[in-house]
Amino acid sequence: MKFFLDTANIDEIKDAASWGVLDGVTTNPTLVSREGKVDFKARIKEICDVVSGPVSAEVISMDYDGMVKEALELSKIAKNVTVKIPMTKDGIRAVSTLSKQNVKTNVTLVFNANQALLAAKSGATFVSPFIGRIDDVGNDGMSVLADILEIFKNYDLKTEVIAASIRHPEHVRQVALLGTHIATIPYKILKMMFDHPLTDKGIKRFLSDWEEYKKKFS
Ligand code: E4P
Repeated sequence: MKFFLDTANIDEIKDAASWGVLDGVTTNPTLVSREGKVDFKARIKEICDVVSGPVSAEVISMDYDGMVKEALELSKIAKNVTVKIPMTKDGIRAVSTLSKQNVKTNVTLVFNANQALLAAKSGATFVSPFIGRIDDVGNDGMSVLADILEIFKNYDLKTEVIAASIRHPEHVRQVALLGTHIATIPYKILKMMFDHPLTDKGIKRFLSDWEEYKKKFS
């Protein structure tokens, strides 16, 4: 299973990369806007210099021509840029065009299995179902994800599934159990995955026992 970091914050990315468990990064316009006044393309380049795996950068255009133009520009920033395209008719048309030109794509804002199937048929490299946002509207994000994975398996579709909109470590456990290819995880949640009170208690105990041992025998 691959872990992507869901952020545009360079310090978070550098920190997570230093742990050796980071396989890629996803950004979106909201995450970039949280960074204050940054040059979008420069920030994507900066991220690609830290992370060798796929780095998603999203288009802003909503029409086919604009999306393709933006996608081609973004894909020139670095070889690991993946262009994020929204799940619309123009978006899927753009992904069909871009996949024929070997531009890597990530179809975003996917909320059901049929949308994911359309993304896969258009040749998307990745598809991103938004688990947390599906839960937010009273549906079950995990069962939508399970359907997508089963359908992709039925037809041996090559598009990889990124579980997005992850809200807590339990989401990560659940998407991993389903065999999801990738989870894109906010920094705060990735950090929480390290924690267990018994780990802290165990460390404290080992260290105090070691101090006792040294006092007695040295
Ligand atoms: C990832 O590709 C998405 O942009 C992200 O996971 C959305 O998460 P949110 O629903 O917490 O904004």
